[in-house]
Amino acid sequence: MNHPSMQGTAALNVPAWVKNQKLVAWVAEIAALTKPERIHWCDGSQEEYDQLCEQMVAAGTLKRLNPAKRKNSFLALSDPSDVARVEDRTFICADKKEDAGPTNNWIAPAEMRQTLNGLFDGCMRGRTLYVVPFSMGPLGSPIAHIGVELSDSPYVAVNMRIMTRMGKAVYDVLGTDGDFVPCVHTVGKPLAAGEKDVPWPCNPTKYIVHFPQTREIWSFGSGYGGNALLGKKCFALRIASTMGRDEGWLAEHMLILGVTSPEGRKYHVAAAFPSACGKTNFAMLIPPKGFEGWKVTTIGDDIAWIKPGQDGRLYAINPEAGYFGVAPGTSEKTNFNAMATLKENVIFTNVALTDDGDVWWEGMTKEAPAHLVDWQGRDWTPEIAKATGAKAAHPNARFTAPAAQCPSIDENWDNPAGVPIDAFIFGGRRSTTVPLVTEARNWTEGVYMAATMGSETTAAAAGQQGVVRRDPFAMLPFCGYNMSDYFGHWLDLGKKLEAAGAKLPKIYCVNWFRKDADGSFVWPGFGENMRVLSWMIDRVEGKGQGAEHVFGTSPRYEDLNWNGVDFSPAQFAQVTSIDTDAWKQELVLHDELFTQLKHNLPQSLAETRSALGKRLEG
Ligand code: GTP
Ligand code: SPV
Ligand code: MN
Repeated sequence: MNHPSMQGTAALNVPAWVKNQKLVAWVAEIAALTKPERIHWCDGSQEEYDQLCEQMVAAGTLKRLNPAKRKNSFLALSDPSDVARVEDRTFICADKKEDAGPTNNWIAPAEMRQTLNGLFDGCMRGRTLYVVPFSMGPLGSPIAHIGVELSDSPYVAVNMRIMTRMGKAVYDVLGTDGDFVPCVHTVGKPLAAGEKDVPWPCNPTKYIVHFPQTREIWSFGSGYGGNALLGKKCFALRIASTMGRDEGWLAEHMLILGVTSPEGRKYHVAAAFPSACGKTNFAMLIPPKGFEGWKVTTIGDDIAWIKPGQDGRLYAINPEAGYFGVAPGTSEKTNFNAMATLKENVIFTNVALTDDGDVWWEGMTKEAPAHLVDWQGRDWTPEIAKATGAKAAHPNARFTAPAAQCPSIDENWDNPAGVPIDAFIFGGRRSTTVPLVTEARNWTEGVYMAATMGSETTAAAAGQQGVVRRDPFAMLPFCGYNMSDYFGHWLDLGKKLEAAGAKLPKIYCVNWFRKDADGSFVWPGFGENMRVLSWMIDRVEGKGQGAEHVFGTSPRYEDLNWNGVDFSPAQFAQVTSIDTDAWKQELVLHDELFTQLKHNLPQSLAETRSALGKRLEG
């Protein structure tokens, strides 16, 4: 079957199992615009995955790793200019600028459409357009939403198969007239007749564009991560947050974990930490010595969709099906479960290659191998690293791995009903000022803490690193609408649930990253974070002790379980101290944020700010 608008371009070749006319017409329209050489309708099968990987090996995009070391796994090295999300090239094209809000880049939809039409015209010449149908959330479940990504990157197609429920079954759910979020992606590097391709095509010009009103995503110029795998940040956070605002639910940058006490009581926690600030690690935590009988299970490691249930509690699901996790720093010591997940069926991007065809990155082992090929394909030795500072793996190097391979996966990880949330945690990366853990006195003060959270920037986004910036709810780069309205949405939801007689989840603020004078982390972190988590669970149960201070309640040294670790009261003081002068400075930063967000800023947050200021002045 061919569509009239297809004349002069690739044949549509719609498979018999695709019955959605809106989808077919849209593919025809995008193909007419982008002018690919071929169209491939993905069926999501293993054969298709294998064939695409083989094709990328032949093209030099992927290298097959030693099957004896990493079965069915590959390494991709990206262009050095295309290694992370590009926040300054990310746009929320709401009809009105106020609806995107002051924290998002905004361009009027009509103007942006004109720009995109120019950029996308002929952008897939010489390439294959892959039609990638995917479901965020379990296939066919009432909480799931379908997207279709049209991409000229086979790397995107295979990564989407791991990260989402991708394939033929999605067309069945779509049927003849089901709805989907249209996502168009191009690496932005058309090939002239006979032109040889490069291993990682991309374009210095990049646009990551969202149209919330029409629920559309357009991405130009990058093949990497959240810029290109459009189900993740673009759909499941930026577009989904606007859906949640309209429909009374939440789309959050949160891991979800289950924690079971030795008595067999199970709790669920959702935690928002900014990019590269510990979500995957916390989600896969293994309780340390001294916590025998405790168990932590993984529901999700990056995104949570959270909806009020009939009983007034909040239920969370993980819309993803895989992990796109930070490699550097991941080891058997820091994250054993992640390492076990990475044994087979993994795509590694921008890590280093060992001489025996395996992968390595900074922090994987104590001793670096004597020789590696680094993420830019150059020879690397510990001596070279010492002399030049060259990293074997890019700091934002990642693995793409199926969630089901994780040993700590929760039995309910793909339950469409989700899991009931007992506590929310918000945490930034702060070398100073912010204490290890604080419990908010109530929902409004918890929302205030989350809204004013600061964090040092990381390699997950292009730009300067280690700079403290406000990152409200760890959603600064991911909220698809006005941030003040988003705060209001959280406050309203709390009010509604409380009015219905529900017990709201407790809200905590944490910081694993305080440093000493030498610049070393004081808190041991990783599995030891269990000591903080179990205190929270005690508090949820109404039995944990603590001391109240200006911001809320924190444990005293004697309130945490120190069995199995050597951590002194003096060290504890280093990670929990509250310096009044530093906090007066911090409140100036809260004020700057609230000035920026003054349009529609909820009054109760401004009131919380003044009360806090007064308490701090003593
Ligand atoms: P995104 O996938 O970008 O959203 O990141 P994430 O929030 O899942 O972060 P991840 O768990 O991948 O951790 C990022 C980096 O922080 C890794 O290098 C980890 O080793 C390190 N990290 C995680 N947890 C801790 C901790 O408790 N203490 C310390 N010091 N480092 C940690
Ligand atoms: C993040 O940056 O928060 C990530 C990686 O989870 S990416 O998918 O590139 O957004
Ligand atoms: Mn993330």
